[in-house]
Amino acid sequence: MTVVDTPARIRFEKAAVTIGARVHGIALDEQATPQTVQTLRGGLHEHGVLFFEFGERVEEEQLRNFSRLFGELEPVYGFSTKQQEAQIKGGAAGCIDAAYQPLKEYRTGQWHTDGTPFERPPQAAILTAVEPPELGGGTMWSNMYAAYEDLSSHYQHLLEGLQVQHGTLRTPFVKERAQTTHPAIIRDPVTGKKALYVNSVYSERFPDLSERESDSLLRFLFEHVNTPEFHVRLTWRPGTTAVWEERVTQHRAVDSFVGTRRLRRLTIKGEKPSA
Ligand SMILES: [Fe+2]
Repeated sequence: MTVVDTPARIRFEKAAVTIGARVHGIALDEQATPQTVQTLRGGLHEHGVLFFEFGERVEEEQLRNFSRLFGELEPVYGFSTKQQEAQIKGGAAGCIDAAYQPLKEYRTGQWHTDGTPFERPPQAAILTAVEPPELGGGTMWSNMYAAYEDLSSHYQHLLEGLQVQHGTLRTPFVKERAQTTHPAIIRDPVTGKKALYVNSVYSERFPDLSERESDSLLRFLFEHVNTPEFHVRLTWRPGTTAVWEERVTQHRAVDSFVGTRRLRRLTIKGEKPSA
């Protein structure tokens, strides 16, 4: 019997009210047909983060193959840590296997978007559990569409006129230094929706505000991202795989866990975010 590839079998089940969806009807060795790719990428930009349960550990080659559904891989993610650098496997598209102990050292337990000090930050990232912790150690995402929409029209208007300087002042452990500016509010090219683009690891300054104004506005926005109504939390099990749209979400690890916590990551290339 021939199985006809129809995106109708793909189902997105919301994981929280404002962000995240569990995806049904996608196999680990799914073929990247144009319809499947379009359906998945539409879902990714709409829900911000997609969760897949494959039931057993996903090997590197399987993960690389799966990543083709979401775009082109970054050969090596520029913000890997010096420690991770030693673990990056050879070949065209490096998987990073990370066992963070402790997470705090690498600020993965703080809300952020990956790679914003780059001109072209990653568009998406993929994580899969290699050795999930026995207890705790989940990952959280926050929806930046919701963060924008929750602001008053006065704050939205203020932020829409501002650029933000992003840099690596707070992350001395990364192997590459970088600095650039991006708009404080960006527009997602797929959904057309606006999103807050300010994060507590890499956003350093509003260059057009005084230092006091800039510090105060940054502090407010960092707290705003930490609003529970914008969040979803994932518990890792063997084979649990998450794909997130970097620019319309932020993420952080949960620092408390029992046992070993080893995750495997791939990063999808992105374009310069625009307002
Ligand atoms: Fe990250």
